[in-house]
Amino acid sequence: MNIKNIKSAFPIFKQKINGKPLIYLDSANSSQKPQTVIDKISHFYSTEFSNVGRSVHTLAVKATNRFESTRDKVKNYLNAKHREEIIFTKGATESINLVASSFGEKFINQGDEILTTELEHHSNYVPWHFVRQKKGAIIKFAPVNEKGDVEIDEIKKLITNKTKIIAITHISNVTGAIMPLRKIIDLAKEKKIPVLIDGTQGAPHLKLDMQDLDCDFYAISCHKMYGPNGLGILYAKKKWLDQLQPYQGGGGMISEVLKEDVTFASSPTKFEAGTMQTAEVVAFSEAIKFLESLGMENIQNHENEVLSYGIEKLKRNNSVNIIGDPKERGSVICFTMKGIHPHDIATILDDDGVAIRAGHHCCQILHDKLGMPATARASIGVYNSKEDIDVLCSAIDNCKKVFKI
Ligand SMILES: Cc1ncc(COP(=O)(O)O)c(C=O)c1O
Repeated sequence: MNIKNIKSAFPIFKQKINGKPLIYLDSANSSQKPQTVIDKISHFYSTEFSNVGRSVHTLAVKATNRFESTRDKVKNYLNAKHREEIIFTKGATESINLVASSFGEKFINQGDEILTTELEHHSNYVPWHFVRQKKGAIIKFAPVNEKGDVEIDEIKKLITNKTKIIAITHISNVTGAIMPLRKIIDLAKEKKIPVLIDGTQGAPHLKLDMQDLDCDFYAISCHKMYGPNGLGILYAKKKWLDQLQPYQGGGGMISEVLKEDVTFASSPTKFEAGTMQTAEVVAFSEAIKFLESLGMENIQNHENEVLSYGIEKLKRNNSVNIIGDPKERGSVICFTMKGIHPHDIATILDDDGVAIRAGHHCCQILHDKLGMPATARASIGVYNSKEDIDVLCSAIDNCKKVFKI
């Protein structure tokens, strides 16, 4: 497969939107799916479907094997040490809720501190807010600077002997800042503080190696990695999973259920209560194959080229104000246009077949700091090209004409 004509692997691009070719610049929200992933879902339901981890009939055993072999594939893809460290969830949101709830229950008490940043998506704040409410904990926010970065020194300043966890994003879904994870994790290690990374915007774009990164928890959205919707992953170090209690109960996650007590299965099963997403997990193996066949370094280089081209071209348009100028930027360009509401920008761009997102992107704290209720966001995926950026820019010019600015 060649990255330059990779659009042909995605059937969605065969259609026109409002009579124009689809220019999809909303992958930070959710990515499109290659034909191989779609075919796998259809094939699984047509020929192999059964619930997993329960029955012993032929289909059930086959489905369970497919499900578990995807776990092995994810383990290898992330270079996790143990397959038990890979837990399937319904998305990064559930992955973070799992950690906040189970880790918070056991290790966070009155007056303890959770250290996060002003850049976070609501998924990496609201679950910690629940812990704050329940346990009387304190949430500290490392400030974002005018470039859209969070400096390591700001994180350092906020660490105290009450800090129980550092929960930070890998890449901001608004400023695009790539966080200095190596420095943050090294610092946390010195202080023996576990680190959770919201890897939602990192995993689709960067090569990951959990053993090298050495974080404690890493949350992933499979639906932003060209995989099926309704699926996420929590990578968690075995030492934590062995100590944590599950945060939801039900079928499949138990060892023994008695009237007097319940004991739980070991990880990952104890964190996967109830019927799991089956076709989604099985088909996610195709999304990994897709990423591996292109190579993460090639994907990164290609996306960086498109991103830099986009930033340069939009900078030349004096009606466009780009949000943030981080030291290292990944995949997103948030912008505003004087006199045009971001929702109007998104609506007018849609007339030209250009799909972007407008709003606060689930980052209200950051938008409050920016003094803006909303921004427009073009985000880049593997299928985008410089030509897509050209179409975006001419759609922005059309927008200017409509609003006479
Ligand atoms: C940075 C970030 N964190 C978390 C999430 C939530 O991910 P999910 O939709 O998989 O729950 C998103 C989704 O937009 C995100 O951009």
